[in-house]
Amino acid sequence: MKVPFHIITTANLGAAYPFISDEGLPVLGAYIGQNLLGGHFAYDPFELYNRSLITNPNMIVLGQIGRGKSSFIKSYIWRQSVFGKRAWVIDPKGEYGDLAAAFSVKPIALRPGGHIRLNPLDFYRVTPSSTRRKSLQSPGVVSGHCSDGCHSVSVGLISSLASTCLGRPLNPREKSAIEAAVRTAEQGSAQVPTLNSVVTNLFEPSADSAEELRSSRRSLAEDGRDVALELRRLVDGELKGMFDGPTTEGLDLDMPLVVLDLSAVYGSPMLGMIMICAMAWLRSWLDYDRSVKTIFVVDEAWAVLMHVETARWLQSLWKLARSYGVSNIAVVHRASDLTRLGGERSEQSGLGTGLLADSETRVIYGQSPLEVQSAQALLGLNSKEAELLSRLGRGIALWKIGDRSFLVKHVLAEGERHFVDTDAAMRGTASLVENQYGRG
Ligand SMILES: Nc1ncnc2c1ncn2[C@@H]1O[C@H](COP(=O)(O)OP(=O)(O)OP(=O)(O)O)[C@@H](O)[C@H]1O
Ligand SMILES: [Mg+2]
Repeated sequence: MKVPFHIITTANLGAAYPFISDEGLPVLGAYIGQNLLGGHFAYDPFELYNRSLITNPNMIVLGQIGRGKSSFIKSYIWRQSVFGKRAWVIDPKGEYGDLAAAFSVKPIALRPGGHIRLNPLDFYRVTPSSTRRKSLQSPGVVSGHCSDGCHSVSVGLISSLASTCLGRPLNPREKSAIEAAVRTAEQGSAQVPTLNSVVTNLFEPSADSAEELRSSRRSLAEDGRDVALELRRLVDGELKGMFDGPTTEGLDLDMPLVVLDLSAVYGSPMLGMIMICAMAWLRSWLDYDRSVKTIFVVDEAWAVLMHVETARWLQSLWKLARSYGVSNIAVVHRASDLTRLGGERSEQSGLGTGLLADSETRVIYGQSPLEVQSAQALLGLNSKEAELLSRLGRGIALWKIGDRSFLVKHVLAEGERHFVDTDAAMRGTASLVENQYGRG
């Protein structure tokens, strides 16, 4: 059979023959595995950024259940630690314990009524960013010292939580009530403001707040009452003890790995909000020390993407990546997690695509045939790449880095297998203790 001539410019060659004609990336950073078209594959977003090969250091990992997403993340963190990178992980399923043990650290296990409490408003602690801490000390004096930045981050966080709880956008009265309550919490407190103090100020606004808003205390309390009642659910009731006061002292963040284990609340309808509070707390510590490059992982990020407000908050974190020296990684099951939940034309859909735009590295594991079309459209895959998605075996992913494509088999080292194994329950070898904590 005679093959017809095909003429193409070198500018378009990479798109037409994505796996054949790419000149590849320099082998920099952590070894990931085998490039299935030849050679080894390594990755380091910071190095690639410094060489202007990518414009942001963030990553999205997508794939069906059990394809090896978390295993990749765990071994990536392990290997990146050799290069001095630290990792902070939001772990909703409680499956990073063995990795933490390999680093000789203990996960910070958050559970209602547990011993550990995190204050999502901790960014009010004022410490020079060059100071490395050994552990969390008593907060310094904060009122008046924190820039307006703290105020707007707090108002943004509280508004996101309130709007998510209420299931609707906030009205102007509610927004003003939140703003006033945060301001009073900042001024009145000798310590760092807490969610509790904000809720109290929503229920009982100060005379100054009322005067400033040309209102009465009673009327202002009425404006913020729905918000206060909803936010109370985060500091009282089933989640009591997790976010309702100052952070427990002595938590050690000066570690190569910090894992926030949220498995005790994995089934909670408030999981997305709980994850946001945990992320806000971790983010607050980035202000202290930007000297160490950080890999910030949000596993099971679909829970955050379920609500417009929490998704928006996640995106704001993505936007800060470069200024904080952070590479953010979100792990989701399918491309449509980024858009589907809010409907095609919703703001959520826009947020999902925005998050993708802010994640120049996309690691795409096997997708169900039903998902291929939306993945193709959303991720800008060509037909060859799309065809592959439903045929990728466990541990094999299509890597899109900017407009380059690679087919990579993640290779596990023998010494890594014990901390990536999530199949114990399937083999029937999980212990009773493991089952109780929802491992696997
Ligand atoms: N590259 C690999 N080589 C061999 N085995 C692997 C590889 N990647 C993952 N596995 C095995 O596959 C199992 C499932 O992996 P993992 O938990 O990473 O999947 P996942 O995609 O995160 O699943 P889920 O969506 O349920 O969280 C693990 O027990 C792990 O040991
Ligand atoms: Mg996983």
